Amino acid sequence: MATTNGSANVAADSRFDPTFTQHVIEAMGPKTAPRMRQVMGSLIRHIHDFARENELTIDEWMAGVEMINWAGKMSDNKRNEGQLMCDVIGLESLVDEITFKRAAETTDAATASAILGPFFRHDAPILENESTIVHGVDDGEITYMHGKVLDSVTKKPVAGAWIDVWQASTNGLYEQQDNDQVEHNLRGKFKTDDNGHYGFYCLRPTPYPVPFDGPAGKLLQLLNRHPFRPAHIHLIVQREGYKPVTTQIFDRRDPYLENDSVFAVKDSLIVDFTPLKGNPKATLELEYPVLLAPQGESH
Ligand code: BEZ
Ligand code: FE
Repeated sequence: MATTNGSANVAADSRFDPTFTQHVIEAMGPKTAPRMRQVMGSLIRHIHDFARENELTIDEWMAGVEMINWAGKMSDNKRNEGQLMCDVIGLESLVDEITFKRAAETTDAATASAILGPFFRHDAPILENESTIVHGVDDGEITYMHGKVLDSVTKKPVAGAWIDVWQASTNGLYEQQDNDQVEHNLRGKFKTDDNGHYGFYCLRPTPYPVPFDGPAGKLLQLLNRHPFRPAHIHLIVQREGYKPVTTQIFDRRDPYLENDSVFAVKDSLIVDFTPLKGNPKATLELEYPVLLAPQGESH
């Protein structure tokens, strides 16, 4: 619990100035917005406690600063190294859990969320149902993914919902990471028909390492961890009147389900790919219903 000096761990006999943290917090001026005051006050308190608890040295602090600077220098509109650093320490997944629990003190029946990750693009092409997002990949298992978007309360089909889908190629790279893939490969936006149906051809996803050549990779190395994500497909599903869901679905047979490098797997998001017969366009099928919670529902 925080004490009046604003810090949980500054004992009365601390060797460090017991008034310092509160002094820094109180430097915020009267025009600071309430939420900013709360969040920054808490951040300052926790980060000061962290420094005291570990008796952080100047060299260690500067190594952290340099990592943040390195992340900034590596980031551009195709790469978000700051987000990736948050991912490998579980922060994006934790924020996702908090957001999902707050929004979805709703219905347990709605499709669970998962982190967005750094490879989403806002400008994916709008495609017709039953078309393919796979271009120029000849070593993948083509999957017909289809299903209905349903209202999580009434279980009725939701027509006119948008499904934004993206996935990595068999070489482990998203198209914006790979000059050999055509622009927008393995991405598309589909709209459900009057029966709530969507359908498209995609790849059975394969596991891939998160980018390993920057500070996030360095951190993984320092923590003696592998960089792999279990095979997954990203989805954002939205329709006016419903809470949008950002999620990922994971292949049940994947060896990294238990140790995703960015901690995003949820049991309810694990799916089964099944053999598909009689369709010359695909060898596998994935039927995946998406349940959207109506806006304003609070159960
Ligand atoms: C992804 O799923 O695309 C992803 C998520 C977090 C870090 C790196 C990649
Ligand atoms: Fe991904």
